[in-house]
Amino acid sequence: MRQQLNAWAHEYYVQDSPSVPDAEYDRAFRELQALEAEHPELVTPDSPTQRVIGAVMDGLAPVRHAVPMLSIHTETDTEASGAQAFDARVRRELGLQESDPPVEYVAEPKFDGLAMSLRYEHGKLVQAATRGDGEVGEDVTHNIRTIRQIPLMLPAGVPPLLEVRGEVYMPRADFDALNERQRAQGGKTFVNPRNAAAGAVRQLDSGIAAQRPLRFFAYGLGAITSEAEGGPAFATHFELLQALKSWSFPVAEQVQTALGATELVAFHQQVGASRDALPYDIDGVVYKVNSLQLQRQLGFKTREPRWAVAHKYPAQEMATRIEAIDVQVGRTGKITPVARLAPVFVGGVTVTNATLHNLFEIRKKGVRVGDQVIVRRAGDVIPEIVGVVPGPRAGYVANFHMPKACPVCGSAVVREKGEANHRCTGGLFCPAQRKEALLHFAARRAMDIEGLGDKLVDQLVDQGVIRTLPDLYRMGLTALIALDRMAEKSAQNVLAALEKSKRTTLPRFLFALGIRQVGEATAKDLARHFGSLDAIMDATVDQLLQVNDVGPVVAEAIHTFFAQPHNREVVEQLRACGVTWEEGAPAERAMLPLAGKTVVLTGTLPTLSRDAAKDMLEAAGAKVAGSVSKKTHYVVAGEEAGSKLAKAQELGVPVLDEAGMLALLAAPTPTEPQP
Ligand code: IVH
Repeated sequence: MRQQLNAWAHEYYVQDSPSVPDAEYDRAFRELQALEAEHPELVTPDSPTQRVIGAVMDGLAPVRHAVPMLSIHTETDTEASGAQAFDARVRRELGLQESDPPVEYVAEPKFDGLAMSLRYEHGKLVQAATRGDGEVGEDVTHNIRTIRQIPLMLPAGVPPLLEVRGEVYMPRADFDALNERQRAQGGKTFVNPRNAAAGAVRQLDSGIAAQRPLRFFAYGLGAITSEAEGGPAFATHFELLQALKSWSFPVAEQVQTALGATELVAFHQQVGASRDALPYDIDGVVYKVNSLQLQRQLGFKTREPRWAVAHKYPAQEMATRIEAIDVQVGRTGKITPVARLAPVFVGGVTVTNATLHNLFEIRKKGVRVGDQVIVRRAGDVIPEIVGVVPGPRAGYVANFHMPKACPVCGSAVVREKGEANHRCTGGLFCPAQRKEALLHFAARRAMDIEGLGDKLVDQLVDQGVIRTLPDLYRMGLTALIALDRMAEKSAQNVLAALEKSKRTTLPRFLFALGIRQVGEATAKDLARHFGSLDAIMDATVDQLLQVNDVGPVVAEAIHTFFAQPHNREVVEQLRACGVTWEEGAPAERAMLPLAGKTVVLTGTLPTLSRDAAKDMLEAAGAKVAGSVSKKTHYVVAGEEAGSKLAKAQELGVPVLDEAGMLALLAAPTPTEPQP
C-alpha cells in the first residue's frame, strides 16, 4: 500500500497526471492510516502518512518556506456530524464546559486547486512557491506573475515582509475550453481543472502559463513582519482576511464567521447546495477557529493545526469499470450508446449507467468494454464518463460498433450525412420509438395525461395493448386491469385522465404529435399562423416558411411528417376518438384581439392554471412576459400577487383579475364591426 500510494502521489504531484480519482487515493490513504494505527510497529519513515507528499521537479528551483505550509486534517464524515465532531474536539481541547458560549469560527470554501505562497518584500512580489513537501516547494514566480488577479505591487502601508497563502485554480468553463482547444490541436487533455492548473503553474516556459486562465483566492498568511518590528496586530483570522482584501487580494465572497457547530453545519449545507452553480470546483469547506489567540492555544498535532479542519462533500468523480456498452432507441429513433458500469457511488448516488452520446463520442474518448473509466456526476446532471484511466488492457478488446439493425425492431440503422447520430428507420413501427412517442404524447406540456408514466407505457406496448397513439383512447377498463399492479381504481383514474385530455388546444396537440423539430414554441407559432390543423397539414414548404421562426429544416420536417399517409391516419383516428380543440381562422397576427399587447401573469388565479391562462392569452395574439415594465399593457393578478402587482400599480399599468382577462379575450377583434 505504501508503494502504491507513493506511486499515485508521484503521478499526481510531480507528473500532474493522476491515474486514479482523489477519492480513491484518499480511501487507500485512510486504510493505511488505520492499519498503522493498529500496528504502530509497522510504520516506516517512507510511509506516505509520515510526510506531506510532493517533490521538486528538475528545472524548477527549490524554495525553503520561511513558515512551513501545513496540511489540514480532513473530516471524513461528509454529513453534518463532521462539523459537530470538529467543534466538540476544539471545545474539549480548550477545556470548555457545556455552559460556556459557542466558539467563533471562520468558514471558507475548500478550493480544489493548488496551494501557493506569495512572498512580498516592501510591497513587491519577489517569489511565488508551490507547497512541495510543506518545507521545500518550487519556485514558480515566472508563471505566477502571469496571473492577472495576483498583484505584483501592493499599496503603500503593507508590512515590509508579507507572505500570502492561497489557492491557484482554473474556472470550470475555462478548463472545458482549454480541453476543447487541446483536443482540436491534438494536444494533451486534462482530467480536471486542478490538474490543468497544476500543469500550467509548473511549466518551465511562462508563455504557456500565460495562455492558461488561472485565478487565485487568498486564505491565510505565511511569514509576516512581527508586531515587535511594527507589523500588524490581528486579533482574528477574519480580520486578517479583510486586510488581505484591502490589499487587493481576491478573497472568496462566501467566507463568513460562524458561531458554534450549528452555524458550521448550516454553512456546509448552504455552500453544498450552491456547489454546482459555482464557476470553480470546491471539494469541501474549511473551518478555522477565528481568534488567533485561541489558535495559538490549540497549536499543532504533527503537521496539522488543531484549530482548522477540512469538511468534504461526497466525491463527484469516481473510477469504475465498463461492463458492457448497450444501445437505447429514443423517440425520434436516435440510437444512443450507454455504458453499463460496475455500480459506483458518486455525487451522492449509486450510478450504474452513463450515456456515451454517440459513436463519435466513444471514439473521441477511446473507451472499450472492460476499461477503467472516471465517472463524473455533479448535482442533478446526468452522469458522464470523463475519460479512460490509462493502463494496459487485459487482452484484445474489440472496438464498439453501431448495430446495423435496430436492436428493438430490426429495422435498418442509418446515419445521415453530416450528423453525429445514428437512427433507427423503423418509425412508429419500432416499439422503442412507440414507447417514447407515447410518453411524449402524454407529457404535461403536451396532452397532459396524468398517470401515464414509463412503467405503464412499457406494459401497454410490450403486451400489445397499444400500437398507435389512437389505441390509447380505445383501450378499455378490462385491458388495463389485466396489467400488473393495476387495481380497478387506478385503471379508472387513467381512463378519466385520458378522457380529460381529449379537450386540448391546437398547439398542445401539434407538440404532442412529436414531429421532429417541432417544440412547444414552434407548435404555438404554427397554430397562431394557420389557425387550423388542416391548413397546417396541407401547407407547402413555402407556406410553412412564412411562419415566425420557421426555417428550411423545420419546414421540411413538418412537410415530410404530414406527407406520410400513416401520420395523417393517426391524426384522423385521434379526432375520431374525440380529441378536439378550438380552431381559429387563418390569422395574421395583427388581426388577433391582443396582437401587439404584452401581458404579465402574477399570483394564483381562481380557476385557470398559469399554463392555461398563458395558452389563452397567446392564442389571442398576446405576448406573455415575465416582468412588468412601462411597455406592459395589462397585468393579470390573482391571489398572493406580490411585487409585480405593486410594480403595475406604481407604473399605472391596468390590472385585471381572471374575469377581467376572460372579458378581454371575449372582446371582438378591432377589425370586426362594432355593434
Ligand atoms: S488553510 C493551516 N483554507 O487545502 C491551514 N486551505 O491541506 C492551511 N485549501 O492544499 C490551509 N482551500 O491549498 C486552507 N480555504 C482554505 C483552503 C485550503 C483549499 C487547500 C490548501 C491545501 C489543502 C489543505
